[in-house]
Amino acid sequence: MADEPLVLGIETSCDETGVGVVRGTTLLADAIASSVDEHARFGGVVPEVASRAHLEAMVPTIDRALREAGVSARDLDGIAVTAGPGLAGALLVGVSAAKAYAYALGKPLYGVNHLASHICVDQLEHGALPEPTMALLVSGGHSSLLLSTDITSDVRPMGSTIDDAAGEAFDKIARVLDLGFPGGPVIDRYAREGDPEAIAFPRGLTGPRDAVYDFSFSGLKTAVARWIEAKRAAGEEVPVRDVAASFQEAVVDVLTRKAVRACKDEGVDHLMIGGGVAANSRLRALAQERCEAAGIRLRVPRPKLCTDNGAMVAALGAEMVARGRAASDWDLSADSSLPVTDPHVPGTSQAHGHGHDHVHETAKENLYS
Ligand code: KG4
Ligand code: ZN
Repeated sequence: MADEPLVLGIETSCDETGVGVVRGTTLLADAIASSVDEHARFGGVVPEVASRAHLEAMVPTIDRALREAGVSARDLDGIAVTAGPGLAGALLVGVSAAKAYAYALGKPLYGVNHLASHICVDQLEHGALPEPTMALLVSGGHSSLLLSTDITSDVRPMGSTIDDAAGEAFDKIARVLDLGFPGGPVIDRYAREGDPEAIAFPRGLTGPRDAVYDFSFSGLKTAVARWIEAKRAAGEEVPVRDVAASFQEAVVDVLTRKAVRACKDEGVDHLMIGGGVAANSRLRALAQERCEAAGIRLRVPRPKLCTDNGAMVAALGAEMVARGRAASDWDLSADSSLPVTDPHVPGTSQAHGHGHDHVHETAKENLYS
């Protein structure tokens, strides 16, 4: 529908410069420029390198997204940007760009939370997000269980990892097995030909006294590494497929068990799974099986929408506009540890429901004073 809000979203929290264009819950463009190759020789994301790459990629990626969407910047109803959490310098590039475009075009600016965007993106695939929805976000950077009762204003953290992120565990085990980087997809592939019950690896934080919704993968990682070392020390061949399958099973067993438990405890009958690890075939299958058994509806966006992208930011921005949420102030800043309880960073001058014109007037005063 043409009267649904048309929003451009900018995501620069890590190493992908993502720019998406969304109309309501319809995806129009999802342009990505990744600096992953530039970090490869350092064995991890280098913040300064990421910031510089965002700066170089920003304008061309915005142009590409608008072109792909077939819309003009003048037609936008708002510009949304990830305000946090993420790498401070990387976020700053996105926030500065979003401000510059919004100000120059006379459009409202919406600073949004990265994790809430990961949840909201599912609207682009499966339509309006039911409220409440439980969300399991698993990637190389995060592993959290979140309860969303209003994706624009009320997201409650239920639990998170106390050590490694789920994706990090996949990457580390793949390194121990000499399978390369990133580890998730290759472990997923090997695991398909292995026996998930071959080796009983530990399930982190599942004891009676453990935090019910928190995760821990560091003990599992150590157990797998020791098991492999012992095999090698004994001069035996490491059964890579069985190790991959058994390790993967330990991760997805805990993830799905805790997610379903949280849904049951909170009386929530919708679960969404997002983040790069949501691409895992066994996680998808086991989540489906356990959700069906518990009467929970499962929503998992396609892999391209699960990893960091600009469309997810645009999706949340469009929801902000649709629900008449206040725009952000022009002094919006990047916050590397922005809490998810604030899916959106509104402007203080907007708190009493003034229109967008007001924010522009305020901003102009700020800029010229
Ligand atoms: O969301 P993402 O692209 O980037 C961030 O970490 O923010 O997630 C990347 C992570 C990596 O750790 C990668 O190994 C993992 O997602 N991953 C997978 C699979 N595909 C990607 N993990 C398990 N199974 C997969 N099929
Ligand atoms: Zn992310």
